[in-house]
Amino acid sequence: MDWGLKNRLSRIIKPHNNRALMLAVDHGYFLGPTEKLENPKKVIAPILKYCDSLMVTRGVQRTSVSPTSDTPMVLRVSGGSSIIGDDLSQEDITVSLEEAIRLNASAVAMSIFVGSKYEYQTIVNLGKLVNEAEKYGMPVLAVTAVGKELGKDARYLSLACRVAAEQGAHIVKTYYCDNFEKVVQSCPVPIIVAGGKKIPERDALQLTYNSIKAGAVGLDMGRNIWQSEHPVAMIQAARSIIHGNSNVEQAYSLYKKLAAQDNQNKSKKQNNPNQNKSKKQNKSKKQNKSKKQNNPNQNKSSNSNQSK
Ligand code: 5RP
Repeated sequence: MDWGLKNRLSRIIKPHNNRALMLAVDHGYFLGPTEKLENPKKVIAPILKYCDSLMVTRGVQRTSVSPTSDTPMVLRVSGGSSIIGDDLSQEDITVSLEEAIRLNASAVAMSIFVGSKYEYQTIVNLGKLVNEAEKYGMPVLAVTAVGKELGKDARYLSLACRVAAEQGAHIVKTYYCDNFEKVVQSCPVPIIVAGGKKIPERDALQLTYNSIKAGAVGLDMGRNIWQSEHPVAMIQAARSIIHGNSNVEQAYSLYKKLAAQDNQNKSKKQNNPNQNKSKKQNKSKKQNKSKKQNNPNQNKSSNSNQSK
């Protein structure tokens, strides 16, 4: 494996413990303004520092993530269908490798739809993407998306993950299921688990724990973080399992503690809505005062300009 590819991979799967916490915010590429992700910039800002990497589309990266951020980007490069269209599996590659490099991506991601109408197209696209990506040392993450009528059992997911790995994907993202060890054992590349639909926080932490226990390197969690009442608490709790080896009880206790603090802060703000305003007013008064001190003629000259 080339140096560049290894280096990029090490930004996503941390080499000291072979674990990864990815924050997924790419849902809008087919769902539009997903519930609680209507304003990606606001959602991403407070939780970004707790993830190892961000799974994102180029549109959200450019508009909603600061270019000064040092969080590695996993750039979704596939799309073409929406939730109200005919068939979600009809995806193509929509972002070039050149663009991914311009956006300083640490990996590119695309979905394959094994067993669906557009299976052939998406699997061939994965092979082509790997061909291009290998030229630049860019890792490819294959998302094994599940069609409506396809089950999420170990038999199907093992098949889908293995197909992705055989095409050369460097990481595979899939769903957790019973007997998940089987899925992991038959896939020769690291597996990251998607969080899936919003479930109660404790259950999402259990899913995180079970996935790691079964051999996944990490989680790519979206809705179970930012659709939680307390996203900052939730991401830290998930992180404590992935990177701190917490068990579910420990992680859930952490979640409850941080959630309680969050509630306290929110109620303080509600009781004193002008708290921030008055802080800002004081700050700008101080700034004006020091400007005047530095330039005592400031007001004079602006008055004289007015009179002209
Ligand atoms: C959508 C995706 C998402 O990134 C993935 O499903 C993870 O998000 P969530 O935890 O909300 O399921 O690939 O196609």
